[in-house]
Amino acid sequence: MQYSEKVLDHFQHPRNVGEIPDASGVGTVGNAKCGDIMQMFLKINDDEIVEDVKFKTFGCGAAIATSSMATELIKGKPLAEVEQLTNEAVVEALEGLPPVKIHCSVLAQEAVQAAIADYRAKKENKQKEEAPKAE
Ligand code: FES
Repeated sequence: MQYSEKVLDHFQHPRNVGEIPDASGVGTVGNAKCGDIMQMFLKINDDEIVEDVKFKTFGCGAAIATSSMATELIKGKPLAEVEQLTNEAVVEALEGLPPVKIHCSVLAQEAVQAAIADYRAKKENKQKEEAPKAE
């Protein structure tokens, strides 16, 4: 199996590994077939900019490389742009992945989307709590 230099680099030196304790949104996704799990933490500011992002991946080398690259692609970006992140963009930034490893990049895309969904749900709940109750 051939891996690009970029994949090997991100696998050996993953960027943005860890957790954000007060994350605005957390997404956890897994692949039932391979059993790999990915967790993405987003810190989103009031202007809806992804200020910080961290990840934890229990999985294969390609899953680590794709989640690492995904964090690099979304850090400092507006949420509207981050929402558009596709697994193809992650694969392209990594200069390709072997076909059997494409699903690892899908996991990275899903983890980002799950974290955004969590952020939106939390925001909605907060707005409901803060809304004045009807008399
Ligand atoms: S083998 Fe399943 S995420 Fe890589």
